[in-house]
Amino acid sequence: MRKPIIAGNWKMNKTVAEAKEFALAVKDNVPSKDVVDSVIGAPALDLAPLNCKLKDSDVQLAAQNCYWENAGAFTGETSPAALAALGVPYVIIGHSERREYFHETDEEINKKAKAIFANGMTPILCCGESLETYEAGKTAEWIEGQITADLADLSAEQVSSMVIAYEPIWAIGTGKSADANIADEICGVVRQTVAKLYGSEVADKVRIQYGGSVKPENIAEYMAKENVDGALVGGASLQADSFLALLDAVK
Ligand code: G3P
Repeated sequence: MRKPIIAGNWKMNKTVAEAKEFALAVKDNVPSKDVVDSVIGAPALDLAPLNCKLKDSDVQLAAQNCYWENAGAFTGETSPAALAALGVPYVIIGHSERREYFHETDEEINKKAKAIFANGMTPILCCGESLETYEAGKTAEWIEGQITADLADLSAEQVSSMVIAYEPIWAIGTGKSADANIADEICGVVRQTVAKLYGSEVADKVRIQYGGSVKPENIAEYMAKENVDGALVGGASLQADSFLALLDAVK
């Protein structure tokens, strides 16, 4: 049985003061991390102050990105070694917004995954298709291609421990979440792709999230599906009461 993981992705939102206020509102109210991994994906600037506020709680942190080198002349980038030194356990990589706006390639995302593991952290790897690809009925082959390229040369042990988030681009921020059966089907494609590459034992261990307009009102539909082990949530994770309501669906 895979432990559920509910992660918020704040994207480019919340000042340090707002992040601290959120932390105080949730720190003593999330379920035990023995039951579910409750994760906040915060902007880099907020991670150190959040870490101070949340270090004795069951809330965990994720960075939203990192570079694939630990140090050097890479202006503006975030070091995976510095994130690890801070005690951040997860790093979100390959989000569709980074692939689109910042032109991140599968090769770069693969390098980031390797750097995250090398620093003792766990990647939350995002994949997902455009509306055009979905409407052309080519989602499965698109997802298989992304996962195969993004996992290149990772070990079975590494893939067993990671999280993969299926986020159809057409459902992100639109309020039009994917039908739960479609989400389960494509999360199944992710799992079958992992099985092809690493075998069924690894595929049974990897945790797969659905993301794209998940809300407290609809999360239970996704969590009831065989291939869905959690959710990666944008808008509905920004308010403390909504974030806690998402977790209530998993208790
Ligand atoms: O990474 C999660 C995000 O892309 C989903 O955003 O606002 O549709 O929940 P949202």
